[in-house]
Amino acid sequence: IVRNFSSSSAMQSAIKNVTVIGGGLMGSGIAQVSAQAGQNVTLVDVSNDALAKAKKSIGTNLSRVAKKMYKDNPQEGEKFVNDSLGRINTATDAAEASKSADLVVEAIVENIGVKHKLFKQLDGVAPSHTIFASNTSSLSINEIASVVKRKDKFGGLHFFNPVPVMRLLEVVKGSETSEATYKTMMEWGKSVGKTCITCKDTPGFVVNRLLVPYICEAIRLYERGDASARDIDIAMKLGAGYPMGPLELADYVGLDTNKFILDGWHKKFPDQQLFKPIPLLEKLVAEGKLGVKTGEGFYKYEKK
Ligand code: 3HC
Repeated sequence: IVRNFSSSSAMQSAIKNVTVIGGGLMGSGIAQVSAQAGQNVTLVDVSNDALAKAKKSIGTNLSRVAKKMYKDNPQEGEKFVNDSLGRINTATDAAEASKSADLVVEAIVENIGVKHKLFKQLDGVAPSHTIFASNTSSLSINEIASVVKRKDKFGGLHFFNPVPVMRLLEVVKGSETSEATYKTMMEWGKSVGKTCITCKDTPGFVVNRLLVPYICEAIRLYERGDASARDIDIAMKLGAGYPMGPLELADYVGLDTNKFILDGWHKKFPDQQLFKPIPLLEKLVAEGKLGVKTGEGFYKYEKK
């Protein structure tokens, strides 16, 4: 699972200083893999509380990685954890933090207005060579990039949850992303241990365009009462070799996230049956049953 995390791989990348905006699950993971690869990271969030929480979870996840990488040498493992953590600074001022960045990766709330405000501000202060990227999973890269002058230096870097484990990175080319920017993003992705694929700026890119309708079909199957949640999940794990069943995965990703993506697509493509709203999903989200993070979704979980 852990690959190419040597600091020598970071040497191949033109990116030395990465600023990650958003200290949630995805932002923390992106900060972690960058720091593991030897890059200097500034993790930005609006509150110091969120940053403290993010650093704590990064520490825990780095220890999991170290346990595997340094099975026979716990001392080296400890050094790896401390060195990686030491490369992560935290900040609450995104503009200030972007002044020294070669790459800014945004992983904040999926709201076009909020993203526009952020990038407009950063565009005015970040050095001219700085590449801007969004980890959006449901919005258009071109639309997000529309407010910046450096459209040639803007692209999508879409990671998967859990970021330290999932080996894929989707590198999304906007219609004005330059070849040089694209190449740098691909090299950077490789340097943080990911296998990169290329995709146009199309809804869901590759993975979510296939995964979200699949999850939705599983919810509909369950809603119709055709099979139990457990049996649907067992079926896809044992019958199709997936590591998680679709309903488990929906709980893991967050039912609010699933709904948000589906709603966005339904608005854009109202005739597409696969994107139609799902009453059961609506109900669970309205009840605050968002999956693992709230302690209940299709299943119940112990609250962390
Ligand atoms: N950080 C570091 N390591 C982690 C980790 C984390 N956050 N989470 C798990 N791991 C490691 C564990 O230490 C373990 O290592 P080991 O095998 O060497 O002991 C290994 O990963 C497996 O973890 P677990 O034993 O805890 O549990 P599983 O074997 O069930 O694996 C899983 C967990 C990796 C999450 C696996 O179930 C899986 O791959 N599930 C599918 C996830 C998926 O499809 N993600 C994509 C979601 S879509 C998305 O993100 C897009 C977005 O836009 C919505």
